[in-house]
Amino acid sequence: MGKYVIAGNWKMNKTPAEATELIEAIKPLVADAACDVVVGVPFVDIPAALEAVKGSKIGVAAQNCHWEKSGAYTGEISAEMLKAMGVGYVILGHSERRQYFGETDVTVQKRVRAALDAGLTVILCVGEYLEQREQGVTGEVVAMQTKIALGGVSEEELGRIIIAYEPVWAIGTGRTATAEQANEVCALIRGVAKDLYSEAAAAALTIQYGGSMNAGNAAELLAKPDVDGGLIGGASLKPADFATIVAAAK
Ligand code: 13P
Repeated sequence: MGKYVIAGNWKMNKTPAEATELIEAIKPLVADAACDVVVGVPFVDIPAALEAVKGSKIGVAAQNCHWEKSGAYTGEISAEMLKAMGVGYVILGHSERRQYFGETDVTVQKRVRAALDAGLTVILCVGEYLEQREQGVTGEVVAMQTKIALGGVSEEELGRIIIAYEPVWAIGTGRTATAEQANEVCALIRGVAKDLYSEAAAAALTIQYGGSMNAGNAAELLAKPDVDGGLIGGASLKPADFATIVAAAK
């Protein structure tokens, strides 16, 4: 429905020199991509990544940003700083941020606001824990995360939001959601966008699936009508696998 976007989330992997090497390896393999391609790199790799993607269509994402423009926030990076460097995208609300670093729906909303104000495109992550799925509250959890994160986001601004549905139980576990499960929740998110905005805005929204997406299962997931791309962890560090996933997005 939305435009296909395949994004790698490198997480806490790769030095700047290794980032250059990985992007140089990916570049020729995705030169003919029919979708948008993004690499989400650690902050310190951003200069190397921006240099390495030159002459390609690959976009660069940061993996978080703070909600203030500047100030006494030791260890944080602002959306303004990222924009000033030339970064186009920022991943926000990843479950690892929520799980290990105390991020809440409210802080995610504040970061979304700051990123949009700075002119970045947001890859907003939502997804349920295994216990929540087993209790049958996946829809409620994902709808609530989505609604809170989009609080204050205008319909026009929604054009700079990509939503990544990442069931926490599928991340880094090798246990992928079935294509039906992924599509069901992506469709639910699209329904939330329709309720909040309009049918047209919901149809144009890019909704990715993430969680053990790999070269072997990407085509089936991406063939589903409401799955418009992928947010890829482990497989994004392997050029050939990442390229296979990109090739499946058309
Ligand atoms: P894996 O693809 O390694 O499961 O990670 C998914 C993810 O968290 C992407 O943000």
